[in-house]
Amino acid sequence: MATLKINGATKTVDVPADTPLLWVIREHLRMTGTKFGCGKGLCGACTVHIDGVATRTCITPVDAAEGVEITTIEGLGGDHPVQKAWIAEQAPQCGYCQSGQIMTAAAFLTENPNPSDDEIVGAMTGNLCRCMAYKRIKAAVARAASDMQKG
Ligand code: FES
Ligand code: FES
Repeated sequence: MATLKINGATKTVDVPADTPLLWVIREHLRMTGTKFGCGKGLCGACTVHIDGVATRTCITPVDAAEGVEITTIEGLGGDHPVQKAWIAEQAPQCGYCQSGQIMTAAAFLTENPNPSDDEIVGAMTGNLCRCMAYKRIKAAVARAASDMQKG
């Protein structure tokens, strides 16, 4: 059994302790915004926030996620400035990587609200996009930073 604090709610799941958090989120809690890409911590599709830090759930066992605050793309709310910037810049193509991209960007901008272009590229470089939407993703992160500074 594992008890998780996720998107402000407490959920208990009956799974082995080494079950990847990704599968608990998707298969047990039925939150399918978080995606499976590589399963090896290499692509970023499965990124959520754990205590505000962008974390890859495919390589995080569920027992390591007990007692911390987990936020998935569903928990970002839809009105988050990063999500709004993503829409304004029409960042997605197929969309598959985008939840992970948004979660990485949101955590990054909390740490660094006024990033340079190079810092944006550095922060996002571990999130892969098979559609090569990198230019629009970078523009969306920059727009979100600007919008967040304006309040
Ligand atoms: S699915 Fe987790 S990093 Fe690729
Ligand atoms: S938008 Fe298709 S993989 Fe990134």
